[in-house]
Amino acid sequence: MNFEEIEHLEEQFQLATYAKMRIAVKTGKGAWIWTSGGEKYLDLYGGHAVCATGHAHPRVVAALKDQVEKVLFYSNLVYSEVRAKAAEKLVAIAPESITKAFFCNSGTEANENAMRMARMRTKRKKIITFSGGFHGRTADAISATFLGNYRNLGKPNVPHHVCAEFGNIESVRQLADKETAAIMLEPIQSMAGVTEAAPEFFAGLRKICDEHSIVLIFDEVQTGVGRTGNWFFSGSNLADFVEADIITLAKSLGSGVPVGVCLVNACIAESIKTNDLGTTFGGGMLAAAAVLATLEAIEADKMRENISDIENYLRERLKGIEEVKSLRGKGGLLGIEFNESCKLIHQKLLDNKIITGTSSNPNVLRLLPPLCIKKDEIDLLIEALK
Ligand SMILES: Cc1ncc(COP(=O)(O)O)c(C=O)c1O
Repeated sequence: MNFEEIEHLEEQFQLATYAKMRIAVKTGKGAWIWTSGGEKYLDLYGGHAVCATGHAHPRVVAALKDQVEKVLFYSNLVYSEVRAKAAEKLVAIAPESITKAFFCNSGTEANENAMRMARMRTKRKKIITFSGGFHGRTADAISATFLGNYRNLGKPNVPHHVCAEFGNIESVRQLADKETAAIMLEPIQSMAGVTEAAPEFFAGLRKICDEHSIVLIFDEVQTGVGRTGNWFFSGSNLADFVEADIITLAKSLGSGVPVGVCLVNACIAESIKTNDLGTTFGGGMLAAAAVLATLEAIEADKMRENISDIENYLRERLKGIEEVKSLRGKGGLLGIEFNESCKLIHQKLLDNKIITGTSSNPNVLRLLPPLCIKKDEIDLLIEALK
């Protein structure tokens, strides 16, 4: 089918919920995708922050092919070697305090379950989240989302959600009390325009949580799985080595196979009993194989080291471009802040066959490239920007 035929069919039969780029992806390899018309695009958006290992990483492809031949799925009612190994690997790379994993299918589902666990643990209801944070589109997660208009789309909202100011520890102190079950945040607010907070902010949050026995949840759907150069934001120097009680992951975790997870510490784990949580598809064999291969590929190819180098390289190369005000973020979660709206730049880059992302901040262009992106590929962006 040519592009126009594909576009027509999708528009006819799919709800028009996204403003789409006018290309149809056919194949992908590394940081590149090829369209239905055979054109090649550099993917600096990583398939929406998902394709951390790059498109069609050989290790991931081989693991999935192998798993498909064995068994696609069985639920948590039985044991599975590949699921056991995926959970073991996640706990091994997680901050020290993390002891167990709960598999689900998406970021929003991971956040729903994280908040539920916090309420179960504390027997309290109130959840503190932040201005500019995005946590998903299901009922509790959208009620915890104070970015733009999203919360209104989820009306009627789940009660007991309150909003503090991101980066402002005083605003948290005013809301935190013995009624509060959890404080949940994106440690770098991606959709808001790659907004960061100082490491002291995270130390302050940990202190408040400890004082009031509140559960600290890091929504690492975007920052996790090596994206910042650390396996997780939690426990890293970016967080002043503070460890969250629950870390939620999705996006990059399965290289594109839908999967989410809640990683929890011993204190949370001991309060969760049989039948407290559940999901049919969570921890299915195909997803578990994808998780294991993704983590192994990132490790084997030293992608975390690579993405830290890439960040530094990009910082240097952007210096010569007058219109660039700053580079926000860390590793492969980056926002190029321009002096004015980047809408036209986003479109012009696409015309030059480079895919980037926008954000809620009109001046911030988001880059969420595969963690295996190379310097000469970054050069193509610099040339096009110039
Ligand atoms: C930080 C964050 N949390 C949660 C979600 C929701 O994830 P999903 O779309 O997989 O439900 C997203 C999605 O963009 C996200 O960026």
